Amino acid sequence: MDQTPVRPKDRFLTFGAPDVHQDEIDEVVASLRSGWIGTGPKVARFEEDFKAYKGAPNAAAVYSCTAALHLSMLASGVGDGDEVITTPMTFCASVNSIIHTGASPVLADVDPKTMNIDPARVAEKITSRTRAIMPVHFAGRACDMDALGALAKKHNLMIIEDCAHAIETEYHGKKAGLFGDFGCFSFYVTKNVITGEGGIVVAKDDAMAARIKILALHGMSKDAWKRFSDSGWVHYQVVEAGFKYNMMDIQAALGIHQLKRVEQNWKRREAIWKHYDEAFRDLPIGLPADPEPNTRHAYHLYTIMVDEARCGIKRDDFLAAIQRHNIGVGVHYLSIPEHPYYQKTFGWSGEQYPHAARVGRQTVSLPIGPKLSDADVADVIEAVRRVLAGR
Ligand SMILES: Cc1ncc(COP(=O)(O)O)c(C=O)c1O
Repeated sequence: MDQTPVRPKDRFLTFGAPDVHQDEIDEVVASLRSGWIGTGPKVARFEEDFKAYKGAPNAAAVYSCTAALHLSMLASGVGDGDEVITTPMTFCASVNSIIHTGASPVLADVDPKTMNIDPARVAEKITSRTRAIMPVHFAGRACDMDALGALAKKHNLMIIEDCAHAIETEYHGKKAGLFGDFGCFSFYVTKNVITGEGGIVVAKDDAMAARIKILALHGMSKDAWKRFSDSGWVHYQVVEAGFKYNMMDIQAALGIHQLKRVEQNWKRREAIWKHYDEAFRDLPIGLPADPEPNTRHAYHLYTIMVDEARCGIKRDDFLAAIQRHNIGVGVHYLSIPEHPYYQKTFGWSGEQYPHAARVGRQTVSLPIGPKLSDADVADVIEAVRRVLAGR
């Protein structure tokens, strides 16, 4: 068996490496030279651009999706004594943002095929204390928004969509983030549009979006950032005890140009996804389900399932073996109830959420991004095939 790695060490393929072009580099440099680095006109422009892309009534840029989720709940009064239902198959930020409002997170297991929160399980978890449902469009696959919307309507609950993976996602002709009371997006370095760190909220209600902007900048009155601009001196007043969650212009400088390529990059990820599907069809691994009819998948993560019983190799050994070929991989995610903090605090265990636990124990995310060349994609395929052949 050939022991040479598929790629040499000095060409390690970094998982989720962002695709940064000269346009955004120039825009960041222009920001740095302009003397205006912090929240300012470029953030305002990025908000307008994002709003137009989504066809949203408003957009409030913040420092991260975590901040977006936190402020959405705070702005709408979620707090002590409330419960918010979310999925066990998500990044810890979804759950932590609920905890930081003072509310209790409640988990509802996922559908094993889609890996998205299962509305039937959500229905079982609704109590008189439930205030909101937080669906996560996992990997960019739309949640069952008809069923979740019907539950929310019946029980008078808010929907706060965690769209960290789902900028391009659509469900039955409608864009992700526009179903709920709030849609929260991430521009973290590995995401489909990046600003380094960054996030944005779109809100159903303009007043909520305005309140989020105030909360994101210390609770200072509307447009306080303009106090340093050339539009004339304005005093600000602190109208709430807010947070330091604002986006800076140097972040927005990246986002403005990244957003222009969002569709082009989506097409490239779709092509890579299809290529992987074809190349892995004969292997004993689980492949992602096809996108549901009348939906648009954002193709944020391509996750395969490595079930030891079927593949003859433990998932963690598979991860290590792929890395030895100098290809970066990811795990999205160890399920929430299997992390020690949540076990200790809420008494959760993996066994209570068996579908999420299985996904978390078998899943491997392969590189998928616009920066990958055809040769990179071929290397990933070669590494997967070799590791499985050598088990
Ligand atoms: C599903 C999900 N929700 C929330 C977040 C938090 O995003 P951010 O890093 O922008 O705070 C992430 C980030 O990885 C995520 O994947």
